[in-house]
Amino acid sequence: MEKKGIKVVTIGGGSSYTPELVEGFIKRYDSLPLRELWLVDIEEGKEKLEIVGNLAKRMVEKAGLPIEIHLTLDRREALKGADFVTTQLRVGLLKARALDESIPLKYGVIGQETNGPGGLFKGLRTIPVILDITKDMAELCPDAWLINFTNPAGMVTEAVLRYGHIKKVIGLCNVPIGMEMGVAKAFGVDHSRVRIDFAGLNHMVFGLNVYVDGENVTKKCIDMLANGEGGNDPKNIKSIAWEKEFIKALGILPCPYHRYYFKKSEMLEEEMEALKKEGTRAEVVQRVEAELFELYKDPNLAVKPPQLEKRGGAYYSDAAVRLIDSIYNDRRDIQPVNTRNNGAIKGIPDDSAVEVSCVITKDGPKPLNIGELPVAVNGLVQSIKSFERVAVEAAVTGDYNTALLAMTINPLVQSDTVGKKILDEMLEAHKEYLPQFFKKEQ
Ligand code: G6P
Repeated sequence: MEKKGIKVVTIGGGSSYTPELVEGFIKRYDSLPLRELWLVDIEEGKEKLEIVGNLAKRMVEKAGLPIEIHLTLDRREALKGADFVTTQLRVGLLKARALDESIPLKYGVIGQETNGPGGLFKGLRTIPVILDITKDMAELCPDAWLINFTNPAGMVTEAVLRYGHIKKVIGLCNVPIGMEMGVAKAFGVDHSRVRIDFAGLNHMVFGLNVYVDGENVTKKCIDMLANGEGGNDPKNIKSIAWEKEFIKALGILPCPYHRYYFKKSEMLEEEMEALKKEGTRAEVVQRVEAELFELYKDPNLAVKPPQLEKRGGAYYSDAAVRLIDSIYNDRRDIQPVNTRNNGAIKGIPDDSAVEVSCVITKDGPKPLNIGELPVAVNGLVQSIKSFERVAVEAAVTGDYNTALLAMTINPLVQSDTVGKKILDEMLEAHKEYLPQFFKKEQ
């Protein structure tokens, strides 16, 4: 990559999260000279792209930086010569998410954006679109890195590793950085002084060791978490307290999403209650987005508004921009990302995606050597990996039986009969976005 400034393309650029990303680039401009930011969206997202794009232009102007902001519906035009491509798209928009969250609940199964049947269907809709993007990248910007934030990020990374047309892919999530921020807050120190060794899968990651200024404080963190301190749950997950004795016995830090597995019935009950009171999380987010886009329209607004903090994606720009910065500058610092396992976590195939602390170099992430996960959690991680792999096969082939297999083996479902009912209803509901399952017989 020539050091004459970089070109970044953001697909799903009309997202309400974009000002977060722009803020991140502005903050790091000195070490990461962004020359062009191309925000790409589809026809349906045109209005949002205009609004958010104009805010991005005002932000850059206010900061006095020579960053060009381009808005386009032409993905291929944007991709030409890109250095980094970030993906933050939502196939079927929030309407599809609302179905992912509400249909499973009718059958007494958790309805969640990235876990259980909801996660499966988000993957089935998203994977073909991302694979298509990798095809364009191979042709138009073969040296670029794909940094994917699109959920389910672990499953999407797995799909690109196996079926993508490019090699340079990294999946990124804000959960690990959020956990680090929680520790930093609890210890009253700056985030830069905290390091956690992360290992597992996306939304299924554990903090194995925690260090503050290089000192191992894992035991103290576990005690704090057992007492309800030091956590930092994203806005989309209810912070139901953990049982003290469970956390002590676990001995490592769970991520907020582990509540769907280790507090399954409580989370289900919570979701049912929330559904009655405020609707699905998608509906809550729709209201937050409407408020945000009204603010974004204000020609006097030239910074990221604080209302964006009502979304679950806090620190996402910090994570994204520090990753791009470390690749660009070959910093060799340690960051948690989704990448090819390459033997880092024992028991998971080398060619599968894992979420793990890595040394970030100009040639990409190099995972730390983790070894085997503790026996108490190894089984669940393996189950989720099996689920992700079968789900990817279903997304790529459009095969009904494979989709039912993925649905049934998911730890939140585990019934072929209930799974089949959910599958049938969701396939019908999402038909428009699942062409691979509705191919016409020849
Ligand atoms: C968390 C997750 C993200 C997810 C977000 C949803 O931060 O890590 O993967 O996209 O929550 O937030 P939302 O505001 O859309 O419910």
